Amino acid sequence: MARAGSGHKLVLHEGMMSEGQGTSTGEYSFKAFASHDYYSAVTESLIEASEIAPGQKVIELACGTGMASRMILERLRGARESMLIGIDVSSQALREAMGQLASFRDVAVQLVQNRAEQLSVVVKGHVDRVLFTNGIHYVADKDTLLDEVNTKLTKGGLFAFNTAFFHGSNPPETEQFYRRWMMRAIRTLKNKYNLTPKSEKVESRRQLTAEEYTALLQAHGFTIVRKEITPVPINLQGWLDISGYEDFIQGTLPGVPLEPACKSLQESVRQVMAELHLQAVPRNWLSVVAAKA
Ligand SMILES: C[S@@+](CC[C@H](N)C(=O)[O-])C[C@H]1O[C@@H](n2cnc3c(N)ncnc32)[C@H](O)[C@@H]1O
Repeated sequence: MARAGSGHKLVLHEGMMSEGQGTSTGEYSFKAFASHDYYSAVTESLIEASEIAPGQKVIELACGTGMASRMILERLRGARESMLIGIDVSSQALREAMGQLASFRDVAVQLVQNRAEQLSVVVKGHVDRVLFTNGIHYVADKDTLLDEVNTKLTKGGLFAFNTAFFHGSNPPETEQFYRRWMMRAIRTLKNKYNLTPKSEKVESRRQLTAEEYTALLQAHGFTIVRKEITPVPINLQGWLDISGYEDFIQGTLPGVPLEPACKSLQESVRQVMAELHLQAVPRNWLSVVAAKA
């Protein structure tokens, strides 16, 4: 377990666990994609809708390298009672978040390496908000997750999440783009590297529809406060960056070593966007805010 110096309000607790899916640092990290303005804007809007205010206690699940944590901390500033507990499965991401959040000396921050769906193991007492940005799709057992969120929230407390990996995230008009891109990437992989992806799907990649998410929340005693689907135009650089993210690579070309898979995805997305004369391809983001009844 690593701790910050005495008197410092930022503390890191590392556990003894494997890094798991979706880890966001290293060579095939999520960082490049997370630096796009459209990515932070969609998350900022969810945080705005979560009505975070000074004095609250907030849990952030899958906090990663701290992009959304910074936005949350800006809203928590100004009260001694404010607290943020960031949880992520990746110790590498949490160490990077330590650096990102070092300037927020006026709010107590704990970063804990743990699975989101086991949050009650590491959080004592109740909190006012639980946020989960761009990561709920990694959790295969969403029933357990929602039970855990429910036990940790105060009555009337809010749970908010967003995801661009739900059944409905690809608008129908983008089907041709995805089909061509994937066919081209598989062909490039075969021709250049003599590799073929494995066909089996990982359980956690079974995507829920927006309606399945809200029905699940209601079944766990939540009231839906806000449900929005926002189309976000992703430009070529965005597609190149997401093609360099380990988890995206493994989801699209399962079982293929990262380097040839990344190169095949990048080369083919360039070609396909040029052929179809596309400046950007929209992706739908689902944002949900739900209250504990
Ligand atoms: C795409 S990144 C999102 C990071 C950040 N929330 C954001 O919005 O930019 C996904 C994060 O989920 C984390 N993650 C994946 N599965 C997890 C789980 N079961 N519990 C906690 N964190 C998890 C990964 O380590 C990674 O940091």
